[in-house]
Amino acid sequence: MDPTPHPAAPAEFPLDQHLAYLNHAAVAPWPKRASDAVIRFALENSRLGATHYPQWLEVEKQLRHNLSMMINAPSPDDVALVKNTSEALSMVASGLAWEPGDEVVITNQEFPSNRIVWESLADKGVTVRVADISREDVTPEGAIEDALSERTRLLAVSSVQYGTGLKLDAEHLGALCRSHGILFCLDAIQSIGAEPLDVQAAQVDFTMADGHKWMLGPEGLALFYVRPEVREQLHLTEFGWHMVADRGNFDRKDWEPAPDARRFECGSPNLLCAHALEASTSLLLETGLETVRDRIQQRVAHLESGLTGLNGVRGITRASPQRRLGIYTFDMPEHDTRAAQARLFEEGVICAYRGGGIRFSPHYYTPWAALENALNRVEDLLR
Ligand SMILES: Cc1ncc(COP(=O)(O)O)c(C=O)c1O
Repeated sequence: MDPTPHPAAPAEFPLDQHLAYLNHAAVAPWPKRASDAVIRFALENSRLGATHYPQWLEVEKQLRHNLSMMINAPSPDDVALVKNTSEALSMVASGLAWEPGDEVVITNQEFPSNRIVWESLADKGVTVRVADISREDVTPEGAIEDALSERTRLLAVSSVQYGTGLKLDAEHLGALCRSHGILFCLDAIQSIGAEPLDVQAAQVDFTMADGHKWMLGPEGLALFYVRPEVREQLHLTEFGWHMVADRGNFDRKDWEPAPDARRFECGSPNLLCAHALEASTSLLLETGLETVRDRIQQRVAHLESGLTGLNGVRGITRASPQRRLGIYTFDMPEHDTRAAQARLFEEGVICAYRGGGIRFSPHYYTPWAALENALNRVEDLLR
């Protein structure tokens, strides 16, 4: 039985009761208010076109506000709305002035987007050093510190690793970067929406996250935060009518970039996604991100205790709750784990094969019955 039933959940999440949806680390279902917002927006477009464009911009403004609250940005004006996490990472990689011999440190568990983008700098003489955070003789932050050198310019890590679910200590890493005089880039798509992020406390220079995972929004709209003090260091790589200071003055021939984060938004905004993401982030903020995190942790702990109680399951995700957030990954050493994942998916346990195992990722609203259902299905597969 769910120890903390959530009264609003059934109405907000009309997800098919037959599904045990444990795939928020991939693509999340939308809450009802997000799909309602999209339906309303579509109907309005077909009846009135963009007659009420100024009101749409108010929704976008509210979204920027919501996102800035979720990461404790100094101001909503420090948050840019871009296409996805990979685009924001690319803007950082191609916007910094690199010198041959510069180094970027990443980890051995990064999602491809946060590796390829740095490897693409090889033609500028930039080297990627990989910290082995799978080591057991040292903390992940210790392994990262070991990988830093005199030539390191930037540390780029995910807040939570997509495969193993390992959570890094962002504040520790931010302090480390500051003390070494290097930039700190945090790919936070696996944590924003699942727990509060404080970019100021963690001394983050760049962070990014698409809305389609823990923020419960659609694919195609991401937040991109650049610390105001480093904004000028980042050369712009995308240009257009929307990123200039005097936006809307189409007759003016001279231009300068907008002083705030809108300089990273080159053209027309994605207002369809903005309506959906504004709705889903408002739900998360109303619930409270601490509550969201606690409920996710409870669900992951329940999955862990159920799974590790089964003969034939081996946990890949670390046991310590401080070292994980919404992901629990495990394998079945005496079975074909990949085939088992495919079987679970077919049976309505929506999950992924990642990090060498089956990745379960519940959200705060996931019904307890869905967790029990998934555990029973795994037990059946082991028979
Ligand atoms: C850690 C991490 N970074 C980046 C991405 C890719 O994000 P996007 O599709 O928004 O570029 C993912 C997607 O799974 C991810 O898990």
